[in-house]
Amino acid sequence: MHLLLRSSKPKNLRYLFVAHHNHIFTGKLNDNLSWRSQHTAAGSSNDNNPDDNKTRKKSRPLTEHEKSIISSMIRVDHAGEIGADWIYRGQMAVLGKDKVVGPVIQEMWDQEKYHLSTFDEIISRHRVRPTFLRPIWETTGFLLGAGTALLGKEAAMACTEAVETTIGEHYNDQLRELIKFENNEEITELTQVIKKFRDDELHHLDTAVDHDAQKAPFHGPLTAIINNGCKAAIWIATRI
Ligand SMILES: [Fe+2]
Ligand SMILES: [Fe+2]
Repeated sequence: MHLLLRSSKPKNLRYLFVAHHNHIFTGKLNDNLSWRSQHTAAGSSNDNNPDDNKTRKKSRPLTEHEKSIISSMIRVDHAGEIGADWIYRGQMAVLGKDKVVGPVIQEMWDQEKYHLSTFDEIISRHRVRPTFLRPIWETTGFLLGAGTALLGKEAAMACTEAVETTIGEHYNDQLRELIKFENNEEITELTQVIKKFRDDELHHLDTAVDHDAQKAPFHGPLTAIINNGCKAAIWIATRI
């Protein structure tokens, strides 16, 4: 069962997401493996496992309707990971030398780079047209990351808190859609990637709260503006 859970307290949101995650998540990608190599490894184990072969026989081609939905999902996720990469790049340009938050931001940025490289591979293999607006997502992401960082460490973390809350919800929305499609290996694999990345984003959200995001000046209005901006960006990137 999938739930969309919202809370004004991100900590609560995270715990509810995790409870949900424990219910539905049956596989976890190894961070040391690319999604592609894990897929290959799973494929070779199928060759030796009669139960897995049964599952494979049940797989079916995607319908045109499903292909269209999956293409939009991959396009917006790829665009979102581009934006995230540049948000953290902007934060590091301002706070990279800070001994407390510099390493924290770097660690989250490294995970975003992995997310982006994974979606680079997926978008190419699925032959999905990337967003036309890449330069806009890069510029906007950098300005958002650097701009909030210039307001202080807490504002930078508030930016991360707001962005990751919205992205966590976005990935959960996609998982709710994907669960309607059955017996297709490509969808199963995409679902595993999105679950893994959803968990990473919620971990970033938690990290931001732990580093005083909610002590940022104008935390409420700042969060509302960034949340709404992210939702608008998601709407646009799904289509363009
Ligand atoms: Fe990400
Ligand atoms: Fe993230």
